[in-house]
Amino acid sequence: MELGLAGKTALVTGGSKGIGLETARALAREGVKVLICARREAALAEAAHDIARTTQSQIETQPLDVTKIDQVETIPAIVREKLGRIDILVNNAGTGTYKPFLDVTDAELVDGMAINFFAQFRICQRIVPMMIAQGGGCIVNVSGETGIMTLNPPFLSSCTGPAKAAEIRFSKVLANELAPHNIRVNCVIPGFIYTPERFAKWEREMAKRALSAEAAARERAQWSSNQGARDTRWGTPEEIANLIVFAVSDAASYINGAALVADNAMDKS
Ligand SMILES: NC(=O)c1ccc[n+]([C@@H]2O[C@H](COP(=O)([O-])OP(=O)(O)OC[C@H]3O[C@@H](n4cnc5c(N)ncnc54)[C@H](OP(=O)(O)O)[C@@H]3O)[C@@H](O)[C@H]2O)c1
Repeated sequence: MELGLAGKTALVTGGSKGIGLETARALAREGVKVLICARREAALAEAAHDIARTTQSQIETQPLDVTKIDQVETIPAIVREKLGRIDILVNNAGTGTYKPFLDVTDAELVDGMAINFFAQFRICQRIVPMMIAQGGGCIVNVSGETGIMTLNPPFLSSCTGPAKAAEIRFSKVLANELAPHNIRVNCVIPGFIYTPERFAKWEREMAKRALSAEAAARERAQWSSNQGARDTRWGTPEEIANLIVFAVSDAASYINGAALVADNAMDKS
């Protein structure tokens, strides 16, 4: 299959860890010049070093908080300086708050929209003019399974689910609006993916303690089982990265406005 990615440029938000890191690595492997951003500089440097070691590709980095509008405003200038042009945007940075509805604070509600939907909307607004001027581009917005299914127990996703659902709807609308400009927009919806940072957050919020490796594996399997999963294996960041890379490649030229679910048949809606 011809992906047609060599020589292109990409910005991957949240590219220092988990799904973003593996997406950046997979794009670099295809010959894409990649800029990754995240808040922690040390983690960015570590990610760039790791990708360079495994792909022999140079990765650009930029410390940036996607929830801060003044920092988002600087993105076009950073992209021009570090990439020159932009062919691919992967809006991946995001996270969840998992609490009963009545316990969610207003700050958590606002932050949840800011890190997920608002960041994707705002970054697209800054990048799309560059893509239009260049004659086209590809965008993937990373959503999540809470945007399409009610978790069991259901109280876990009242804060994050609506923000993730907004990302799915936003991607569809944007795809239609930008199609005349030769810009494709798709949404990737991961199921349960084992990324160490995210699972550590889950341990803090849900289990209220750090678990041994064996206990953590049992918890993950139990968690999937609670959702009615046939197969309790959690996905890997690489499995989601593969889908993202396909979605931004020439091989996906007829896929636009799609909500691409990778959840091993988890969704029981
Ligand atoms: N893992 C799953 O099971 C799963 C399931 C469904 C959906 N998703 C979605 O997939 C995406 C990636 O998740 P992941 O599990 O790979 O996450 P992760 O391992 O926790 O990594 C998150 C990345 O985003 C960065 N980040 C976090 N807040 C940021 C901010 N305000 N500004 C800029 N960068 C920020 C982090 O670096 P810093 O902390 O240094 O900023 C890190 O690079 C998210 O949108 C998530 O909602 C994940």
